[in-house]
Amino acid sequence: MKKRFAVVLAAGKGTRMKSNLYKVLHPVCGKPMVQHIVDQLEQCHIDEMVTIVGHGAEMVKEKIGERVKYALQAEQLGTGHAVMQAEEVLKNKPGITMVVCGDTPLLTKETMNALIEHHESTRAKATVLTANADNPAGYGRVLRDDQDRVKKIVEHKDASEEEKQVKEINTGTYCFDNETLFETLKRVGNDNVQGEYYLPDVVEILQKDGDIVTAYQTDDFNETMGVNDRVALSQAEKWMKKRINENWMREGVTIIDPDQTYISPDTVIGKDTTLHPGTVLAGETVIGEECHIGPHTEIKDSQIGNETTIKQSVVHLSQVGEHVSIGPFSHLRPDTKLAEGVRVGNFVELKKMTMGKGSKASHLSYLGDAEIGDGVNVGCGSITVNYDGKNKFLTTIEDGAFIGCNSNLIAPVTVGKGSYIAAGSTITDNVPVDSLAIARQRQINKEGYGKKNQ
Ligand code: UD1
Ligand code: CA
Repeated sequence: MKKRFAVVLAAGKGTRMKSNLYKVLHPVCGKPMVQHIVDQLEQCHIDEMVTIVGHGAEMVKEKIGERVKYALQAEQLGTGHAVMQAEEVLKNKPGITMVVCGDTPLLTKETMNALIEHHESTRAKATVLTANADNPAGYGRVLRDDQDRVKKIVEHKDASEEEKQVKEINTGTYCFDNETLFETLKRVGNDNVQGEYYLPDVVEILQKDGDIVTAYQTDDFNETMGVNDRVALSQAEKWMKKRINENWMREGVTIIDPDQTYISPDTVIGKDTTLHPGTVLAGETVIGEECHIGPHTEIKDSQIGNETTIKQSVVHLSQVGEHVSIGPFSHLRPDTKLAEGVRVGNFVELKKMTMGKGSKASHLSYLGDAEIGDGVNVGCGSITVNYDGKNKFLTTIEDGAFIGCNSNLIAPVTVGKGSYIAAGSTITDNVPVDSLAIARQRQINKEGYGKKNQ
């Protein structure tokens, strides 16, 4: 197999976005556009990938990391000039180079692979991925000769009225013979309305040289859409969401209202799980089988076991076991680990803590920096007092302990196995195994007091 290279164009500022955030970093379904592209390319057996960075270079590098090489385009002189910056890395290497824009987030590895296959099978020097657009405004148009061969690509701004009628657009994705690409780029000029070095001009030059230039047309324009402004961004979001939701429905997940359900591209969901309206599954989240999630629930970067129910709640960076019930109105903050059969009810906030098998905190609690064993019952309104204004301290509640309502557990403190805390206690000292701790004032009844004050 020929060597495969890829160049991702991500140096533009994205003026039309009118944003402080660089265009290719704008998220679609929670993931930056350029990251979608790199993730897909990574699955296309690419030997070397170069991302062209300029505006926001450091932020782009931070998002994508070490999986690709970077080339800096210090001044944005056009897409042809951008690709030229990859020459240092790719020159004199025989192979195929795919060029993809960082602002076409919906492009799939299937289409990328189909493009490569088409390119290889036609022995072309250049193959451009095209699509038919109902509204081609803004895109480069693909002009063909009377034998239907690709002749050139003309940018919208440079096109005549007649050329603007052409519906076949350049998607901004191409395959080139690597060495030919860099030789030809040197011959691209900038004599056009925008004064830029256009990558698509390579097509015309090669065609005139008598080289084989082909087009591979996909029938799904939506997949190839380029995001230049916020209107297109919302359309990309809509299509990506539809694709992700339909994929999970086909995999056996029930989505009650797909319009009101938001699933990140890196979420995995088990079969027979039901997602209720208003569910947001973000980051790298894994949901088990036969779960009920939502309504109105946000889960981010968390793992949820089978047959668990989470209603009207927020869960971040946490691990939840099987048969757990959460909510309504619970908040699991980072580093929460709930074992099998745990129940967390209304208005309970958890942070950096573990709860063992079958333990319960059913109402109105804050449990942070805590290790709670199996079969513990945390009564309504109980809290761990974990913070003295400077440092955080650990609360340990051993197996089978019963924490009476409205208790304050002042950390560091340990409540021994099988012991009881009387309701309303403020616990400052460790409680031995199997004991009862009462830490509250005795009640005084002043008889006749009410009458005297009448
Ligand atoms: C480009 C194509 C157009 C095609 C469309 C598809 C050119 C000249 N035009 O137009 O034919 O229909 O994409 O979406 O190629 N970039 C750089 N450096 C630069 C300029 C751009 O890295 O100097 C990057 C941008 O960050 C972006 C990509 O290249 O990710 C495309 O640039 P953009 O300005 O969006 O091109 P379009 O006008 O959309
Ligand atoms: Ca674009």
